[in-house]
Amino acid sequence: MKLIVVKNSDEMSKLAAEKMLAVIKEKPNATIGLATGGTPKGVYAELRKDHQENGTSYGQIKTVNLDEYVGLSPDDPNSYHYYMNEEFLSHINIKEENIHLPNGIADDLQTECKRYEEIISSLGGIDLQLLGIGHNGHIGFNEPGTSFESRTHLVHLTEETIQANSRYFDSIDDVPTKALTMGIKTILESNEIILVANGKEKAKAIKFLVEDPIDELVPASALRSHANVTIIVDEAAASLL
Ligand code: GLP
Repeated sequence: MKLIVVKNSDEMSKLAAEKMLAVIKEKPNATIGLATGGTPKGVYAELRKDHQENGTSYGQIKTVNLDEYVGLSPDDPNSYHYYMNEEFLSHINIKEENIHLPNGIADDLQTECKRYEEIISSLGGIDLQLLGIGHNGHIGFNEPGTSFESRTHLVHLTEETIQANSRYFDSIDDVPTKALTMGIKTILESNEIILVANGKEKAKAIKFLVEDPIDELVPASALRSHANVTIIVDEAAASLL
Protein backbone atom coordinates (compact mmCIF):
# COMPACT_ATOMS: atom_id res chain seq x y z
CA MET A 1 0.00 0.00 0.00
CA LYS A 2 1.39 3.36 -1.01
CA LEU A 3 0.55 6.37 1.18
CA ILE A 4 0.94 9.82 -0.35
CA VAL A 5 0.43 12.87 1.87
CA VAL A 6 -0.24 16.10 -0.03
CA LYS A 7 -0.73 19.64 1.24
CA ASN A 8 -4.45 20.13 0.72
CA SER A 9 -7.57 18.78 -0.94
CA ASP A 10 -6.80 20.50 -4.26
CA GLU A 11 -3.55 18.60 -4.54
CA MET A 12 -5.29 15.40 -3.48
CA SER A 13 -7.85 15.83 -6.28
CA LYS A 14 -5.24 16.69 -8.90
CA LEU A 15 -3.10 13.68 -8.10
CA ALA A 16 -6.04 11.27 -8.02
CA ALA A 17 -7.32 12.65 -11.36
CA GLU A 18 -3.85 12.31 -12.87
CA LYS A 19 -3.71 8.65 -11.86
CA MET A 20 -7.19 8.00 -13.26
CA LEU A 21 -6.29 9.70 -16.54
CA ALA A 22 -3.15 7.58 -16.83
CA VAL A 23 -5.32 4.43 -16.78
CA ILE A 24 -7.89 5.92 -19.17
CA LYS A 25 -5.17 6.86 -21.65
CA GLU A 26 -3.41 3.54 -21.42
CA LYS A 27 -6.64 1.56 -21.77
CA PRO A 28 -9.31 3.60 -23.58
CA ASN A 29 -11.95 0.90 -22.95
CA ALA A 30 -11.17 0.53 -19.23
CA THR A 31 -13.80 -0.10 -16.56
CA ILE A 32 -13.53 2.59 -13.92
CA GLY A 33 -15.11 2.21 -10.49
CA LEU A 34 -16.52 5.46 -9.17
CA ALA A 35 -17.29 6.77 -5.69
CA THR A 36 -19.61 9.46 -4.40
CA GLY A 37 -19.58 11.75 -1.34
CA GLY A 38 -17.99 15.15 -0.83
CA THR A 39 -14.38 13.98 -1.11
CA PRO A 40 -14.24 12.96 -4.80
CA LYS A 41 -16.03 16.11 -6.04
CA GLY A 42 -12.69 17.82 -6.66
CA VAL A 43 -11.45 14.77 -8.56
CA TYR A 44 -14.45 14.94 -10.88
CA ALA A 45 -13.91 18.69 -11.33
CA GLU A 46 -10.34 17.96 -12.47
CA LEU A 47 -11.54 15.27 -14.88
CA ARG A 48 -14.20 17.61 -16.31
CA LYS A 49 -11.59 20.31 -16.80
CA ASP A 50 -9.24 17.86 -18.51
CA HIS A 51 -12.05 16.68 -20.81
CA GLN A 52 -12.84 20.26 -21.78
CA GLU A 53 -9.27 21.38 -22.26
CA ASN A 54 -7.58 18.24 -23.57
CA GLY A 55 -10.50 16.31 -25.02
CA THR A 56 -9.73 13.04 -23.23
CA SER A 57 -12.28 10.63 -24.67
CA TYR A 58 -14.61 8.41 -22.65
CA GLY A 59 -16.16 6.98 -25.82
CA GLN A 60 -15.31 3.40 -24.86
CA ILE A 61 -14.97 3.81 -21.08
CA LYS A 62 -17.32 1.91 -18.79
CA THR A 63 -18.15 3.01 -15.25
CA VAL A 64 -19.46 1.08 -12.28
CA ASN A 65 -20.41 2.91 -9.11
CA LEU A 66 -19.78 1.56 -5.66
CA ASP A 67 -23.21 2.02 -4.18
CA GLU A 68 -26.70 3.54 -4.20
CA TYR A 69 -29.31 4.34 -1.58
CA VAL A 70 -32.34 2.07 -1.45
CA GLY A 71 -35.58 3.86 -2.31
CA LEU A 72 -34.11 6.82 -4.21
CA SER A 73 -34.79 6.99 -7.94
CA PRO A 74 -32.09 8.21 -10.36
CA ASP A 75 -33.81 11.59 -10.68
CA ASP A 76 -33.86 12.17 -6.91
CA PRO A 77 -31.21 14.85 -6.21
CA ASN A 78 -29.94 12.84 -3.23
CA SER A 79 -29.41 9.65 -5.24
CA TYR A 80 -25.92 8.68 -6.28
CA HIS A 81 -27.18 8.39 -9.87
CA TYR A 82 -28.05 12.07 -9.78
CA TYR A 83 -24.76 13.00 -8.12
CA MET A 84 -22.73 11.15 -10.78
CA ASN A 85 -24.56 12.87 -13.62
CA GLU A 86 -24.20 16.29 -12.03
CA GLU A 87 -20.58 15.96 -11.01
CA PHE A 88 -19.14 14.02 -13.90
CA LEU A 89 -21.00 11.77 -16.30
CA SER A 90 -23.21 14.34 -18.07
CA HIS A 91 -20.09 16.43 -18.78
CA ILE A 92 -18.12 13.80 -20.70
CA ASN A 93 -18.67 11.78 -23.88
CA ILE A 94 -19.48 8.50 -22.14
CA LYS A 95 -22.18 6.32 -23.71
CA GLU A 96 -25.32 5.94 -21.60
CA GLU A 97 -25.20 2.14 -21.91
CA ASN A 98 -21.70 2.10 -20.42
CA ILE A 99 -22.77 3.73 -17.13
CA HIS A 100 -23.64 1.32 -14.32
CA LEU A 101 -24.93 1.93 -10.79
CA PRO A 102 -26.90 -0.38 -8.53
CA ASN A 103 -30.63 0.23 -8.91
CA GLY A 104 -31.91 1.27 -5.48
CA ILE A 105 -35.53 1.08 -6.58
CA ALA A 106 -35.40 -2.44 -8.04
CA ASP A 107 -38.42 -4.57 -7.05
CA ASP A 108 -36.21 -7.40 -5.92
CA LEU A 109 -33.07 -6.09 -4.26
CA GLN A 110 -31.40 -9.50 -3.95
CA THR A 111 -31.77 -10.10 -7.69
CA GLU A 112 -30.44 -6.60 -8.29
CA CYS A 113 -27.28 -7.39 -6.27
CA LYS A 114 -26.72 -10.51 -8.39
CA ARG A 115 -27.33 -8.55 -11.59
CA TYR A 116 -24.78 -5.94 -10.53
CA GLU A 117 -22.09 -8.53 -9.82
CA GLU A 118 -22.78 -10.09 -13.22
CA ILE A 119 -22.34 -6.73 -14.92
CA ILE A 120 -18.98 -6.22 -13.24
CA SER A 121 -17.80 -9.69 -14.30
CA SER A 122 -19.12 -9.25 -17.84
CA LEU A 123 -17.01 -6.10 -18.09
CA GLY A 124 -13.95 -8.14 -17.15
CA GLY A 125 -13.70 -6.66 -13.65
CA ILE A 126 -12.67 -3.18 -12.56
CA ASP A 127 -9.41 -1.72 -13.87
CA LEU A 128 -9.28 1.17 -11.42
CA GLN A 129 -11.53 1.76 -8.40
CA LEU A 130 -11.76 5.19 -6.78
CA LEU A 131 -12.74 5.15 -3.09
CA GLY A 132 -13.53 7.59 -0.32
CA ILE A 133 -13.69 6.55 3.32
CA GLY A 134 -16.39 6.94 5.96
CA HIS A 135 -15.67 8.24 9.47
CA ASN A 136 -15.90 4.69 10.82
CA GLY A 137 -13.58 3.29 8.16
CA HIS A 138 -16.32 2.13 5.80
CA ILE A 139 -15.67 1.84 2.06
CA GLY A 140 -18.59 1.95 -0.35
CA PHE A 141 -21.32 1.26 2.20
CA ASN A 142 -19.50 -1.68 3.76
CA GLU A 143 -19.98 -0.93 7.43
CA PRO A 144 -17.74 -2.23 10.25
CA GLY A 145 -18.15 -5.98 10.63
CA THR A 146 -18.82 -6.66 6.93
CA SER A 147 -17.17 -9.87 5.73
CA PHE A 148 -14.10 -9.37 3.57
CA GLU A 149 -15.63 -12.11 1.38
CA SER A 150 -18.74 -10.02 0.67
CA ARG A 151 -20.04 -9.24 -2.79
CA THR A 152 -22.70 -6.70 -3.81
CA HIS A 153 -25.29 -6.75 -1.03
CA LEU A 154 -28.04 -4.91 0.80
CA VAL A 155 -26.86 -2.92 3.82
CA HIS A 156 -28.58 -1.43 6.85
CA LEU A 157 -26.67 1.78 7.45
CA THR A 158 -25.27 2.50 10.92
CA GLU A 159 -26.46 5.50 12.93
CA GLU A 160 -23.00 7.01 12.52
CA THR A 161 -23.16 6.84 8.73
CA ILE A 162 -26.73 8.15 8.61
CA GLN A 163 -25.63 11.03 10.84
CA ALA A 164 -22.50 11.76 8.77
CA ASN A 165 -24.38 11.66 5.45
CA SER A 166 -27.31 13.73 6.74
CA ARG A 167 -25.35 16.86 5.85
CA TYR A 168 -26.36 16.30 2.23
CA PHE A 169 -30.09 16.00 3.05
CA ASP A 170 -32.69 18.56 4.24
CA SER A 171 -33.31 16.55 7.37
CA ILE A 172 -31.83 13.44 8.97
CA ASP A 173 -35.25 11.79 8.59
CA ASP A 174 -34.80 11.96 4.81
CA VAL A 175 -31.60 9.88 4.86
CA PRO A 176 -32.34 6.37 3.62
CA THR A 177 -31.55 3.66 6.15
CA LYS A 178 -30.59 1.07 3.54
CA ALA A 179 -28.28 0.92 0.56
CA LEU A 180 -26.87 -1.46 -2.03
CA THR A 181 -23.10 -1.64 -2.14
CA MET A 182 -20.37 -3.54 -3.91
CA GLY A 183 -18.87 -5.95 -1.40
CA ILE A 184 -15.35 -5.83 -0.06
CA LYS A 185 -14.37 -8.82 -2.19
CA THR A 186 -15.80 -7.07 -5.27
CA ILE A 187 -13.72 -3.98 -4.50
CA LEU A 188 -10.56 -5.99 -3.77
CA GLU A 189 -10.78 -7.72 -7.14
CA SER A 190 -10.09 -4.37 -8.84
CA ASN A 191 -6.75 -4.22 -10.56
CA GLU A 192 -5.84 -0.90 -8.95
CA ILE A 193 -7.42 1.11 -6.13
CA ILE A 194 -7.06 4.78 -5.20
CA LEU A 195 -8.51 6.00 -1.90
CA VAL A 196 -8.83 9.73 -1.25
CA ALA A 197 -9.45 11.46 2.08
CA ASN A 198 -9.14 15.01 3.31
CA GLY A 199 -9.85 16.99 6.44
CA LYS A 200 -9.25 16.29 10.11
CA GLU A 201 -12.58 14.50 10.52
CA LYS A 202 -11.08 11.67 8.44
CA ALA A 203 -7.83 11.49 10.45
CA LYS A 204 -9.07 8.72 12.74
CA ALA A 205 -10.28 6.56 9.86
CA ILE A 206 -6.94 7.01 8.07
CA LYS A 207 -5.07 6.06 11.23
CA PHE A 208 -7.22 2.89 11.54
CA LEU A 209 -6.61 2.09 7.88
CA VAL A 210 -2.85 2.59 7.97
CA GLU A 211 -1.87 1.47 11.46
CA ASP A 212 -4.44 -0.88 12.92
CA PRO A 213 -4.39 -4.63 12.34
CA ILE A 214 -6.34 -5.87 9.32
CA ASP A 215 -9.76 -6.51 10.83
CA GLU A 216 -13.34 -6.70 9.60
CA LEU A 217 -14.23 -4.04 12.19
CA VAL A 218 -12.35 -1.57 9.97
CA PRO A 219 -13.56 -2.33 6.42
CA ALA A 220 -10.88 -0.15 4.80
CA SER A 221 -8.13 -2.22 6.44
CA ALA A 222 -8.92 -4.92 3.85
CA LEU A 223 -7.12 -2.71 1.34
CA ARG A 224 -3.81 -3.52 3.01
CA SER A 225 -3.97 -7.02 1.53
CA HIS A 226 -4.22 -5.63 -2.03
CA ALA A 227 -1.07 -5.32 -4.15
CA ASN A 228 -1.87 -2.05 -5.93
CA VAL A 229 -3.46 0.51 -3.60
CA THR A 230 -2.59 4.20 -3.34
CA ILE A 231 -3.96 6.25 -0.45
CA ILE A 232 -3.90 9.98 -1.20
CA VAL A 233 -4.57 12.15 1.85
CA ASP A 234 -4.07 15.77 2.76
CA GLU A 235 -2.06 16.84 5.79
CA ALA A 236 -5.16 17.18 7.97
CA ALA A 237 -6.32 13.62 7.26
CA ALA A 238 -2.77 12.39 7.93
CA SER A 239 -2.47 14.35 11.18
CA LEU A 240 -2.85 11.36 13.52
CA LEU A 241 -0.25 9.20 11.77
C1 GLP B 1 -20.74 7.54 1.86
C2 GLP B 1 -20.34 6.76 0.61
C3 GLP B 1 -18.86 6.41 0.65
C4 GLP B 1 -18.05 7.66 0.96
C5 GLP B 1 -18.42 8.17 2.32
C6 GLP B 1 -17.66 9.42 2.74
O1 GLP B 1 -21.06 6.75 2.92
N1 GLP B 1 -21.09 5.58 0.46
O2 GLP B 1 -18.49 5.86 -0.61
O3 GLP B 1 -16.67 7.37 0.91
O4 GLP B 1 -19.81 8.50 2.30
O5 GLP B 1 -18.20 10.54 2.12
P1 GLP B 1 -17.61 12.00 2.17
O6 GLP B 1 -16.55 12.02 1.11
O7 GLP B 1 -18.75 12.89 1.84
O8 GLP B 1 -17.05 12.21 3.53
